[in-house]
Amino acid sequence: METVKFTQMKDGDREDYAFLNAHETEYAAGTADRLLKAMVELDKSMSGYKITRLGHSLQAATRAWNGGADIDWVVSALLHDIGDIYAPYNHDEYAATILRPFVREQCAWVVQTHGDFQMVYYAQHVGGNPDKRDTFRGNPYFDDCVEFCEKWDQNSFDPDYQTKPLEFFAPMVREVFTRKAYEPAIINKGVHVSLSDRTVADQRRKA
Ligand SMILES: [Fe+2]
Ligand SMILES: [Fe+2]
Repeated sequence: METVKFTQMKDGDREDYAFLNAHETEYAAGTADRLLKAMVELDKSMSGYKITRLGHSLQAATRAWNGGADIDWVVSALLHDIGDIYAPYNHDEYAATILRPFVREQCAWVVQTHGDFQMVYYAQHVGGNPDKRDTFRGNPYFDDCVEFCEKWDQNSFDPDYQTKPLEFFAPMVREVFTRKAYEPAIINKGVHVSLSDRTVADQRRKA
């Protein structure tokens, strides 16, 4: 069997769907490598900043790593702007949709809303509302998003920062995207993990 027998989904039988399921599982296993390829595409995306979108993403992830952040945070920082390729007007939601099945709820929420939180840094110059993030006040992850933007995102446009290459982060991306999707122990609903850990940061610096 190389393809299913049906031309309309409603005509498929158990054999057809078992066949498709096996295909989908095999395809899903390649997600991490497709994402890593997409990250390279970010190098070509429209910029105007002093560094490319890929450079910015790597710098945000490097800052997360250097601060002792855990793997969910580091991979979320790396992919937080991946939506720029296909969804320039809701790039944050796009990135969060990719991450949500595989990372802590906290990280997916922060990635999803970071676009509005970033406005505090520039919206006054473009006729927007710098206080747009205020609509999220009271959310348990509000302060995490403030910290994400301040420490990893708004400052990661520095061409002189010692940024780690994509290959450094590739094993972490593979680890995260081969997790079981929506596993409650991974989603960790309501769990709060600090963005930085001084002990881990020190160990990484010495390694
Ligand atoms: Fe962004
Ligand atoms: Fe960003």
